[in-house]
Amino acid sequence: MSVILVTGGTGTLGREVVARLLEDEHEVRVLSRRSRDEGERLPVRWFTGDLKSGRGLGPSMAGVDVVVHCATTAGRSDITATRRVIGAAREAGTPHLVYISIVGIDRVPTFPYYRAKLECERLVEESGLPWTILRATQFHNLITRLVHAQRLLPAVFTLGGGARLQPVEAAEVGRRLAELATSEPAGRVADMAGPEIRSAEELTREAVRAEGLHRPVLPLRLPAKSFRAVREGALLAPEHADGRVSFEEFLARH
Ligand SMILES: NC(=O)c1ccc[n+]([C@@H]2O[C@H](COP(=O)([O-])OP(=O)(O)OC[C@H]3O[C@@H](n4cnc5c(N)ncnc54)[C@H](OP(=O)(O)O)[C@@H]3O)[C@@H](O)[C@H]2O)c1
Repeated sequence: MSVILVTGGTGTLGREVVARLLEDEHEVRVLSRRSRDEGERLPVRWFTGDLKSGRGLGPSMAGVDVVVHCATTAGRSDITATRRVIGAAREAGTPHLVYISIVGIDRVPTFPYYRAKLECERLVEESGLPWTILRATQFHNLITRLVHAQRLLPAVFTLGGGARLQPVEAAEVGRRLAELATSEPAGRVADMAGPEIRSAEELTREAVRAEGLHRPVLPLRLPAKSFRAVREGALLAPEHADGRVSFEEFLARH
């Protein structure tokens, strides 16, 4: 049994990682900005903290064997957050640091979030800690989340012009990440992608229908370089179509 801290253990992916680790009877810690919800029944140790400021991070790291860094601020602050995770982990010892990244971040140069993720990967690789990095494609629920966020607009915007995605089920990525967290540090491992390659417009239309919206789906304009990269398949990993759950199955279940 290992002591494993999951940053972002309340998020889409982190929740799945936590659930798998608990099944294997590890001692699981969750770091969140919130205090523990009274309804929270999972047998995890809860640490309230903030990776932007570093508040509360130190105590969560004491005695950990593994840190699975799933938290994201969805922006450039991920670099600060990752620096803080590495700093606190090093002060606590030499835990195995497991980081989740995104397929193609080095092939789409103009997305600020992707540039930040690439920098986070570099920080992990040069942290001096034993490390593992898994890159995954977009989770199914990213598409539904983006549609939901636009539900009050007159139209729903998505990557247009034949941009293709290969979405994967977060639960399957969570299972893989939990396996990696309880294995020897492996460096950069094989990417993980979903079972089907589909156009972003098609996926978005299905999500719009599933949300019960009647809105046109319109193409979002991207800087030319990124657009070309995405159209040419920068976000895909066809040789690692390991996920089994399709987008339709995901929609049917949710
Ligand atoms: N979504 C995708 O399609 C996708 C695809 C491939 C890889 N990834 C990567 O997977 C990771 C998780 O993504 P996700 O979609 O599961 O994220 P998410 O659902 O948006 O969850 C974000 C998590 O980060 C935590 N967090 C945010 N700001 C924080 C802060 N300042 N201090 C501490 N915790 C903070 C949140 O916890 P609290 O709100 O409880 O504080 C929450 O648990 C990210 O690194 C992302 O880049 C995502």
